[in-house]
Amino acid sequence: MIGMEYERQLRDGQALIERALQSCFAGREPMANIYDAMEYSLMAGGKRIRPLLTLEVCRMCGGDVAQALPFACAVEMIHTYSLIHDDLPCMDDDDLRRGKPTNHKIYGEATAVLAGDALLTAAFETALEQSSGVPSDRVVAAAACLAHAAGARGMVGGQSLDMAAEGRAVTRRDVEDLQKLKTGALLSAAAEMGCVIAGGGTDDRAAVRRYAQKLGLAFQVRDDMLDVEGDERTLGKPIGSDQANEKTTFVTLLGMDGCRELVDTLTDAAVAALEPFGGRADFLCWLARALAGRES
Ligand code: IPE
Ligand code: IPE
Ligand code: MG
Ligand code: MG
Ligand code: MG
Repeated sequence: MIGMEYERQLRDGQALIERALQSCFAGREPMANIYDAMEYSLMAGGKRIRPLLTLEVCRMCGGDVAQALPFACAVEMIHTYSLIHDDLPCMDDDDLRRGKPTNHKIYGEATAVLAGDALLTAAFETALEQSSGVPSDRVVAAAACLAHAAGARGMVGGQSLDMAAEGRAVTRRDVEDLQKLKTGALLSAAAEMGCVIAGGGTDDRAAVRRYAQKLGLAFQVRDDMLDVEGDERTLGKPIGSDQANEKTTFVTLLGMDGCRELVDTLTDAAVAALEPFGGRADFLCWLARALAGRES
């Protein structure tokens, strides 16, 4: 396949995810402000990388992409909740997200907290209620994988370490450990769920996990780079947030050149992890390389 076709596959996947997420609001209670706040952030147009991973890993492992869709929506809901809370004044205190004012700027802090809570819960509701046709042992395994990655042993744990490290000198090992949790865990669960829904075996799941872990770390290193050298309008979020919050990031530890090298090394490792899948992994290999050079 050539680059243009991969880009089309990416856009088709994103469009499928947009439609599925929008349909989650079809039966909303009228006049309820909380739905507006949830929809505001969820439908603000993120890159949808996590749900894409769920769908494309499912395809690579020989599964039915339609069956993976509720789990894809679920991981994007959890990711969006994490962003709403991450932007709150008590956390990173940011005003711009996905090119729009942050949730609390529009709805106030209390509703922003609740919108995050409701998206977290809606994620499991969606995954469990809409997964008809998927064998129940796979549904349970995928939901457990997502729950583990979202909580104190995953994203929330990483966010907690991230807050504790503000203004303190921390080592590269510390930063790597916290990034693996705050960003890596959810990206990894997104990919692994695709394999689980497809009925992939232990070896497939281990290879997918390795791919996602390397890709996840590269993703956060690139995120740290963009916080310094990105363009606010392209990125849709503020530049310089990490410095303002006195965070030790990969940029402060390694410099820009060191980060560039690390992103490339990690991306090579991510691609290598998918060797057992041969040509079926082509799109996910292309995606890893595209994310390494992303500007948004
Ligand atoms: C931003 O994630 C937060 C990180 C974990 C680095 P994304 O870069 O995937 O944000 P969206 O979903 O596209 O807005
Ligand atoms: C947050 O990392 C990761 C989350 C779990 C939300 P950052 O604080 O670096 O994310 P951005 O840069 O605000 O998107
Ligand atoms: Mg943060
Ligand atoms: Mg932040
Ligand atoms: Mg960041």
